[in-house]
Amino acid sequence: MMDRDRRLAALVSQLSEETQAIRVGLDRTPEREHSEPIFTTSSFVFPDAATMADAFVNNSGLSIYARVDNPTVDGFCKRLAILEGAEACEATASGMGAILSTLMAHCQAGDRVLMSTGVFGATLNLVKNFFIKYGLEIELLSPTDLGAWERALSRPAKLAYCETPSNPTIEIVDIQALSNLCRAHGCLFVVDNCFMTPVLQKPLALGADLVMHSATKYLDGQGRVLGGAVLGRAELVEPVTSFIRSGGVTMSAFNAWVFLKGLETLDIRMKAHSDNALELALPLVTLYQDHSPGFFSCVVSDALPLFLATVRDRMGMYVEAFFPCFVYYWHKRSRYK
Ligand SMILES: Cc1ncc(COP(=O)(O)O)c(C=O)c1O
Repeated sequence: MMDRDRRLAALVSQLSEETQAIRVGLDRTPEREHSEPIFTTSSFVFPDAATMADAFVNNSGLSIYARVDNPTVDGFCKRLAILEGAEACEATASGMGAILSTLMAHCQAGDRVLMSTGVFGATLNLVKNFFIKYGLEIELLSPTDLGAWERALSRPAKLAYCETPSNPTIEIVDIQALSNLCRAHGCLFVVDNCFMTPVLQKPLALGADLVMHSATKYLDGQGRVLGGAVLGRAELVEPVTSFIRSGGVTMSAFNAWVFLKGLETLDIRMKAHSDNALELALPLVTLYQDHSPGFFSCVVSDALPLFLATVRDRMGMYVEAFFPCFVYYWHKRSRYK
């Protein structure tokens, strides 16, 4: 570790999140590179057999084989973990790879899984067409009906899964309330945070046990590569890591490097997305309100309080800007139903 990295490690917790997103991750190599290197190598060499044995047998921390670990991928994991406020992070080849690995690691035949109906189509396909074949019991529940989750949790359930806001239905789950319910019933609570990113919402701080990402979306933000991530307490991420290493759903070093660059601009991009959404949605709100008086107040009373309670306070500016996206969605939904 170079002096600069040692100083940085000591300072990390005092840096703003915007700065952490640029500075945290890989330690600089003796080549003194400015940007993180891409370690495009399938495996790693050792100076002698004893060092190699130490790495294989005692997990000394030296990289062994790129399906198991890679410094560029580790750098992406460290940076995202800091932003999500997670103890541990593991990266996958795609967002679906993260979801598959989490369910494989934490569930077994006979387990009951509660899943929001408002989740990405491939997630539903995965559980309905595949996990069911291997003996998981899946119960689908409305993301906004807390009473239904409470009733469902009165029978033992291994894992509860939701996405908020959902893709593409933009339904919002009260993360804090659902995590309280899950904790009271000893059920793992998993949240797909793909749409909000840690800039706008931190599910772990609201009580979730694990967070999923399709890094393919905003974390990259420029439509270049596929990737995913699982974050949470080390004891919950470790079994997922173990599945990824054996199952081979590993993120490539090149993709990890692209995501490292994506994270550097995440904060400023989310603000720009929000500002653009506001500009686009406000005229639509006005237009729709003219045609359907009462629409706006109905949306405000139904959706805004929950959204405000869920999204972290610091981002009031974003909250205001995202809200019109929901109005825009409801406008379209009622129009084209
Ligand atoms: C909310 C959400 N979760 C998971 C996924 C799956 O991610 P990937 O396409 O990276 O496998 C997507 C993809 O659109 C998504 O929108």
